[in-house]
Amino acid sequence: MSRKPIMAGNWKMYKTPAETHAFFEAFKPLVRDAEHCEIIICPPFPNLHAAVEETKGSNITIGAQNLHWGREGAVTGEVSGHMLQAVGCSSVIIAHSERRQYFGETEPDVVRKAQAALEYGLTPIVCVGERLEEREGNRTEAVLGEQFDGGLAPLTPEQFAKLVIAYEPVWAIGTGKTATPEMAADAHRFIRARAAAKFGDALARGVRILYGGSVKPDNVKKLMAEEDIDGALVGGASLDPVTFAAVVKY
Ligand code: 13P
Repeated sequence: MSRKPIMAGNWKMYKTPAETHAFFEAFKPLVRDAEHCEIIICPPFPNLHAAVEETKGSNITIGAQNLHWGREGAVTGEVSGHMLQAVGCSSVIIAHSERRQYFGETEPDVVRKAQAALEYGLTPIVCVGERLEEREGNRTEAVLGEQFDGGLAPLTPEQFAKLVIAYEPVWAIGTGKTATPEMAADAHRFIRARAAAKFGDALARGVRILYGGSVKPDNVKKLMAEEDIDGALVGGASLDPVTFAAVVKY
């Protein structure tokens, strides 16, 4: 089964609405002809409206970086899938390692956030990945297995069929240390095999697994040459329109 690549930018806590406008003005013409992949930009919440407006009628869709699992309620500081859908988002990142590390997000959160995202028509982009000490302790597959079993295996096959997975080794994020294409491909194959064991071959072959961690214009081509790498989730290199366009057009 052919899987259409996804090139996604995670802006993290960067850019104002004015900077969002300036980014898209420069970025849209650069990627106008890119039909080989889906392009997603995930700005901070206050920029979502501007980003959706800027990308209407384009080949770019907008995702959020987090959501709460409820629809509405007395939950100060949170944003729901219902609201993200209403503002025009198409997808949402779930359990990024920074959310796991700084805000204590766990596998049960992944399950309820992924379910909530799907309920509101948003594609969940669920992040998994090991920390440095886990890789050095030869625990990479054990950690990925636990994250799969706790966060993804509890979903129904219908739910699993609609999500995207992002493998982001924590030690490669923002450090300039990219996993080698072989290391990333090994992890992707492991995750796909886990998916096959739980959900069957057809769904496992269909699920897109993105790589994230210091993806740049000069390393993206080799990563994308790997059969099991279906795209990239890009932090720092997605902030500049020219740089991210070069990543998109690897
Ligand atoms: P960098 O591309 O800045 O390493 O960030 C990766 C990431 O965390 C994307 O979600």
